[in-house]
Amino acid sequence: METLKVEGLCKNYGALKVLRQVEFTVRKGERRAIIGPNGAGKTTLFNLISGEVPVSQGKVFLHGQDITGLKPYQRSVRGLARTFQKNNLFLGLNVFQNVRLAVQAHQSVSHRFIAKYHRFQGINQKTEEILAHLGLTEKRDVPASDLSYGEQRQLELAVAVATNPQVLLLDEPTAGMSPAETFRTVELIASLPKDMTILIIEHDMDVVAAIADRMTVLHYGEVLADGLPHEVKANPRVMEVYLGLEEGEAHHAGA
Ligand SMILES: Nc1ncnc2c1ncn2[C@@H]1O[C@H](COP(=O)(O)OP(=O)(O)OP(=O)(O)O)[C@@H](O)[C@H]1O
Ligand SMILES: [Mg+2]
Repeated sequence: METLKVEGLCKNYGALKVLRQVEFTVRKGERRAIIGPNGAGKTTLFNLISGEVPVSQGKVFLHGQDITGLKPYQRSVRGLARTFQKNNLFLGLNVFQNVRLAVQAHQSVSHRFIAKYHRFQGINQKTEEILAHLGLTEKRDVPASDLSYGEQRQLELAVAVATNPQVLLLDEPTAGMSPAETFRTVELIASLPKDMTILIIEHDMDVVAAIADRMTVLHYGEVLADGLPHEVKANPRVMEVYLGLEEGEAHHAGA
């Protein structure tokens, strides 16, 4: 079943055409990697899907409904969540509080009818569950500002998962992480519910190989290839783009 679809997406910043006629369909439970060189338009694509930035042209459909005109929070209520390339946490709050806020924000919309006391208990319990699942229980009382960079990225993932999204957009979740943190994060993502649809922007091809069952390659704002990982890797145009780049360019320079 089709969960997310983008149709003829274009984004211009003045004369700069950042996205040109981008189209693809993502079925329920799919794990799709979005790859492409720096500046290809990957983050912009997420900004259009999540509603942070208005489209210049084209449409975004979630569960078959046209959401192109909706605000980010309206898309979130419909089951869309994302992480950002840069941390998007409340640095003055601790780990537990950051996750709890996200759980609460979601529950106050979806479970308005539940009695207050039960809701309070439910929110704390759900928060503890998420922390345990993501291996953050030991850090629950640590202010977000005192976490390592990698731990902050993991917390950001926890915050996104807290809303129990149907579609999750991850923008370079392992960027700047140590190999151990990257491994842990890959495990976390792989352990998310199978029916959760995930789009992941990622430069690390080992991470892509471990997670993705489909790949979309963006190049200068256009879809260069789209398909199964082995098909995409064998695509002559993709090989040309990646082999034509210097090692340092093909791999992300980091935040
Ligand atoms: N608000 C903006 N105003 C003007 N240009 C922008 C804006 N946002 C992005 N761009 C430009 O759009 C192009 C695509 O940027 P985008 O951040 O989507 O690339 P990306 O594929 O995510 O790159 P990276 O791998 O470095 O994160 C770049 O040339 C960027 O400079
Ligand atoms: Mg980006």
